[in-house]
Amino acid sequence: MRFTVLSIFPDMVDRAFRTGVTGRAAGEGLIELDTVNIRDYSTNSYGSIDGYSYGGGAGMLMQCEPVYQAYGEALKRLRERRRESGEAEPEEPVRVIYMTPVGEVFTQRRAEELSKEKELIFLCGHYEGIDERVIDEIVTDRISIGDYVLTGGELSALVVMDAVARLIPGVLKNDESAETESFNTGGLLEYPQYTRPDEWHGRKVPDILLSGDHGRVDNYRMHEMRRVTRETRPDLYMKYMEERGIF
Ligand code: ADE
Repeated sequence: MRFTVLSIFPDMVDRAFRTGVTGRAAGEGLIELDTVNIRDYSTNSYGSIDGYSYGGGAGMLMQCEPVYQAYGEALKRLRERRRESGEAEPEEPVRVIYMTPVGEVFTQRRAEELSKEKELIFLCGHYEGIDERVIDEIVTDRISIGDYVLTGGELSALVVMDAVARLIPGVLKNDESAETESFNTGGLLEYPQYTRPDEWHGRKVPDILLSGDHGRVDNYRMHEMRRVTRETRPDLYMKYMEERGIF
């Protein structure tokens, strides 16, 4: 997977991406990140890329042309990377994801769908947003990471890239972990887990987990997944039960 991020804070994205699991996967060539600084494509000598909103209202908007030029640069670099690695040009245009609270809310299902792509471009807005015309011109998907407003799209692009990257074969070392975690358990949340020591601050690991009886452990974990989901996400629990015809 080749990720490209269009942003005015490329270092923020780069630093976070190159830390931890995604950083290691990038080092191994399983995923790639390129960033394009939108500010490099300012159309004036002050280096500004924003303007007032027509019709009034507080805040500044990112202008069309710098965003469009940054996108052009991203496409050019992608073509170069494909040529270097002897890959054919894709039949479909590369998807461009605009990170915005005015988008479809990101889910594990969406992460799975995006992980099938070979390349993705993320557009990160700032200020009060981006001139709608360039969004209409280049964007294929609008994604929100939740019903709250961040100062920019960088953190949300990182969230989406992280969730997508861990689904790419080889990125997680233990192949199982992507399978058994929350949202891959038929819609239930994950059970609580424990490691050594078996007693800490007077709190004991549940006896069943020390019993060595795999059948009982599996039953116990299933029971815990249901309990945790019912208590913390009744909406998910209802969905889970409905899908099984229980309600
Ligand atoms: N940019 C600002 N807020 C956001 C959100 N909730 N999701 C995605 N991008 C954003």
